[in-house]
Amino acid sequence: MEYKRITIADVKSSDEVRALIDMQSKYLEILGYTEHGLRHVSYVCKTTANILRETGADDRLIELGEIAGWLHDVGNALSRTRHGLTGGTLSYGVLVRIGMDPAEAAHIANAIANHEEETGIAGDALSAALILADKSDAHRSRINKRNYDEFDIHDRVNMSIKKNYLVVDRDKDVIRLVIIMDSTSAPMEYLQIYLERMVMCETAATRLGYTFELVINGVLINHHKRSRGKYTLGSNEGVLSQD
Ligand SMILES: [Fe+2]
Ligand SMILES: [Fe+2]
Repeated sequence: MEYKRITIADVKSSDEVRALIDMQSKYLEILGYTEHGLRHVSYVCKTTANILRETGADDRLIELGEIAGWLHDVGNALSRTRHGLTGGTLSYGVLVRIGMDPAEAAHIANAIANHEEETGIAGDALSAALILADKSDAHRSRINKRNYDEFDIHDRVNMSIKKNYLVVDRDKDVIRLVIIMDSTSAPMEYLQIYLERMVMCETAATRLGYTFELVINGVLINHHKRSRGKYTLGSNEGVLSQD
């Protein structure tokens, strides 16, 4: 059977996708979470694609990365709990209905189902890139200014982050998350809420054949050594930034 080559533009223009992202954003705002709307999914969409590009993926896998990034949090339209699994299920249905090859839809569903630390294990490059993109999005622009609570550790940590960027250092086989934070919070508080996610990033980087480094205010925080061989080629350094 012939299937369409579904692009990120097709996904963005789907009424079903718009409704799900709108619901996920509204629901998590009501619950008091940091921003999970168009700003977050745009960042994850772009960053997943950039990680795949920098680590040598082919054009179609990069496109699938964009789509997975755009859809990865739609499970939050139902519930925060297990939203990776519900998001994978919802995304598979939407993608097949707009004409995607079910094999590609299943690949994206698998990546989405494995992006959360409660149930997720990166199985391949798509999944690993999605995890690294999602978990690197801590930044003051994610705070809902109307609900900002200085006694909430998540708000405090996000508010303190003035700059964050991911570097794919192909010469050293390192994927480096660089965070610049001010005294609104401190690295210890960052680790209190992000430790499990950073360990997940270490595993994801290994899946890509890279070592993961977390650098906060110029200090290397972790000591991760990848355990598998690198599977891609390259000699430059790509910086994927947000400020
Ligand atoms: Fe998520
Ligand atoms: Fe997310």
